[in-house]
Amino acid sequence: MSATSRYRYLFSPLRIGPVVVRNRIVFSAHLTNYAEDGLPSQQHADYYAARAAGGVGLIITEEHSTHPTDWPYEKLIHGFHRAVIPGYRNITAAVHAHDVPIFAQLNHNGGQASSMFSRLPVWAPSPVPDPMFREVPKAVERHEIAEIIAGYGTVAGHCAEGGFDGIELQCSHSSSCAGSCRPRRTSARTRTAARCRAGPGSCLRSSMPCARLSGPTARWACGSAAMS
Ligand SMILES: Cc1cc2nc3c(=O)[nH]c(=O)nc-3n(C[C@H](O)[C@H](O)[C@H](O)COP(=O)(O)O)c2cc1C
Repeated sequence: MSATSRYRYLFSPLRIGPVVVRNRIVFSAHLTNYAEDGLPSQQHADYYAARAAGGVGLIITEEHSTHPTDWPYEKLIHGFHRAVIPGYRNITAAVHAHDVPIFAQLNHNGGQASSMFSRLPVWAPSPVPDPMFREVPKAVERHEIAEIIAGYGTVAGHCAEGGFDGIELQCSHSSSCAGSCRPRRTSARTRTAARCRAGPGSCLRSSMPCARLSGPTARWACGSAAMS
């Protein structure tokens, strides 16, 4: 029995919103350290194009930062700058040449960021240091949450202009989307952030919109592209 008939579903097409992938093998998001001064590079285009030539059904890029406070690694794509768009077009054209769709992953890493790179306070739902990055973050205020949410929209818009077929929101690990929902962190927030209290449970409510609204904001900004 051939691999394609043995793994019938793996090698059959799947619709993801407006995008049809030719098989269900997904090249998942991982940082490459190929960004140059916050911009996507030729190395990104070559790397993803080689994977597309290898036959995957869908490529998801490494995470693109949605806000200047989010700079965990030196060589990260700063998706919030318009200057990324030519590099985005270079990547998407290289991958589309192999008839493979490509999504960009968007993220605000919350407490997993470093002021060493950004020279800005690290923003997170709670002032609880990430075990790996170890900086005590600034607990975000309502207007800062709105800024983070808007950042997702900005980057999603750049991705649409750059030719991406869709976006993926990273809602795991220390991301602000995940952190604003996580009981340990939200309870820490409730205990320590009395200053943001405008009513019972408001600290929790004030951080939850990050998770609730980043998705719809990005969805609106990326227009007809897919979102996962
Ligand atoms: C160096 C490295 C960087 C990664 N960067 C990301 C990332 O930017 N976004 C993400 O969602 N996952 C990231 N991941 C997780 C991978 O996408 C993948 O889920 C994980 O490595 C498990 O798959 P594997 O067992 O095939 O390695 C990263 C993993 C590695 C090893």
